[in-house]
Amino acid sequence: MNSQNDSKVSPLSTSISRRGALCALATLTLGFIPATAVAASGVRVLKNGRIEVTLSKNPALRQVGGVVRVDNVNGRSIALIRTAKGKNGFAALDLRCTHEGTLVQQDGTSWICPNHGAKFALAGDLEIGPAITPLRKLKVQATSKVVTIS
Ligand code: FES
Repeated sequence: MNSQNDSKVSPLSTSISRRGALCALATLTLGFIPATAVAASGVRVLKNGRIEVTLSKNPALRQVGGVVRVDNVNGRSIALIRTAKGKNGFAALDLRCTHEGTLVQQDGTSWICPNHGAKFALAGDLEIGPAITPLRKLKVQATSKVVTIS
């Protein structure tokens, strides 16, 4: 084995190292590893307007920090977040900015409003205005198979 080659650090390993450091920081900050939201699968809109998300169709929700988006359902866009293990470990957010209603976009561990720059924590808490209230939390009921959002 050539010792000169062993001491070289490829750009890929540097990139992985930085990503690992960011994930570790997020884990320390939030207590879980955030993931970028993916579109939810297995979504049903019930007659009463509630939204049912089938857990087996959304592997992102198996891990704490997993996020799926449910877009354009009854005019709403919603994030469903796995906040803890167990059937009570889910939170749902209305993704309309509480300033003027623009849809926020996920940016790592935050939701950013592209309109005037408000910033919210992944769990919806307000971090930076001009919004003055957190993202609206929606009522969630979960079983071992489905999460129902009101
Ligand atoms: S609409 Fe989101 S900050 Fe103004």
